[in-house]
Amino acid sequence: MIITIDGPAGAGKSTLAKMLAARLGYDYLDTGSMYRTVALAGLRRNVNWDNPTELENVAKSIRLDIDNGRTLLDGEDVTDAVRSQEVTGHIRFAANNPDIRLLMVNQQRAIAERLAKAGKSLVTEGRDQGSIVFPDAECKIYLTATPEERTRRRLSEMRQRNESGDFDEILKSINKRDNEDVNRKIAPLIRPKNSIELITDGMNANEVLERLCEIVGKC
Ligand code: DC
Repeated sequence: MIITIDGPAGAGKSTLAKMLAARLGYDYLDTGSMYRTVALAGLRRNVNWDNPTELENVAKSIRLDIDNGRTLLDGEDVTDAVRSQEVTGHIRFAANNPDIRLLMVNQQRAIAERLAKAGKSLVTEGRDQGSIVFPDAECKIYLTATPEERTRRRLSEMRQRNESGDFDEILKSINKRDNEDVNRKIAPLIRPKNSIELITDGMNANEVLERLCEIVGKC
C-alpha cells in the first residue's frame, strides 16, 4: 500500500506523514530531504550554481539513502544538516532541474518497490508524489491549509523560539512561495487526480491525524 501526501509548503506534510506512518506501522519517505541532500552535496563540493551540469554530476555521484526518517549522504547522517538556511537557499537548483528530478523520481519508485517486495507499506510526502511519482497509489491525499492559517502557525512556531514576525510579511512570502510552486515549469504543485483534499484550518496535528486515519480507512 502506498499513501501519498502532497500539498503546499507549510501545510504540515512532514509532521503528519511521519505521525501517520508511525500510527500505521508504515515506512515514511520525506522526498524534500532528497532534493535538500543534493543541494547540500553541491554546497560541499563548491559547484558553480550557474552551470546545472555540475550539480547534475554531483547528484549522479553521491550515495543517497533514506532510512525510515533518516537521510544519509555517502553514509553520513545529514537529516539535520539538510534543514539549514543555506541548503534551503539553494534548493531550487536541485528541485527545478529536470535531470535531477528524474534521478530522484526513479529512486523514490525503487524505494517503494523494495518495500513492496519486503511486504511493507509506505507513506510518502512531497510536491509530486500523487501526481507524478505514484499516480496509481491506493490512497492519495492533498493536505493543505489557507495561507492565513499557515501564517498563524508559522508565527506561533516563531514565538516558541522567542522570535518575532510580522503577519503581513509572512503571509506575503507564503503567497509568493505558493505562486512559484504552482507555476513552476517542472512538476508544479497541483492537487493530484483522484486525491482527497484535507484542509486543516483550525485543526491541531492530532485532529489532522485522526482525519487522515479515517480517510486511509476508506481508501
Ligand atoms: O518539503 P521541503 O521543504 O523539505 O522541500 C524542499 C524543497 O524541495 C521545496 O522547495 C520543495 C521541493 N520538493 C520538490 O520539488 N518535490 C518534492 N517531491 C519534494 C520537495
